[in-house]
Amino acid sequence: MPTVEYLNYEVVNDQGWDIDDDDLFEKAADAGLDEEDFGELDVPEGSYILETAEAQGYDWPFSCRAGACANCASIVKEGEIDMDMQQILSDEEVEEKNVRLTCIGSPATDEVKIVYNAKHLDYLQNRVI
Ligand code: FES
Repeated sequence: MPTVEYLNYEVVNDQGWDIDDDDLFEKAADAGLDEEDFGELDVPEGSYILETAEAQGYDWPFSCRAGACANCASIVKEGEIDMDMQQILSDEEVEEKNVRLTCIGSPATDEVKIVYNAKHLDYLQNRVI
């Protein structure tokens, strides 16, 4: 079953870390964070990342659950996430900034690392509902 390691963007922001830092997850591992902010999810075949996080009792942001807003956005740091049809993110955001929507996203590699709660990034603000 694919594993998704997650880190809360609010922690990145609060700590003054850089989202583009290659050592972001090493820093997080050394920071003594709560499981809500940093941990791992096993995502069953055919499940979306958001619903899997919710099934584990986590309260990740969402709104439409249909690929039409930026509320559930995350940034992929390692691995790959495939999305169902979405029309809200630009090609550049998907291909270069590695933004993925967790409500319609499933792991496409065995190990994935994401920064969830990425809706707080400036360039996504105008699509948060
Ligand atoms: S909740 Fe709107 S795109 Fe995921």
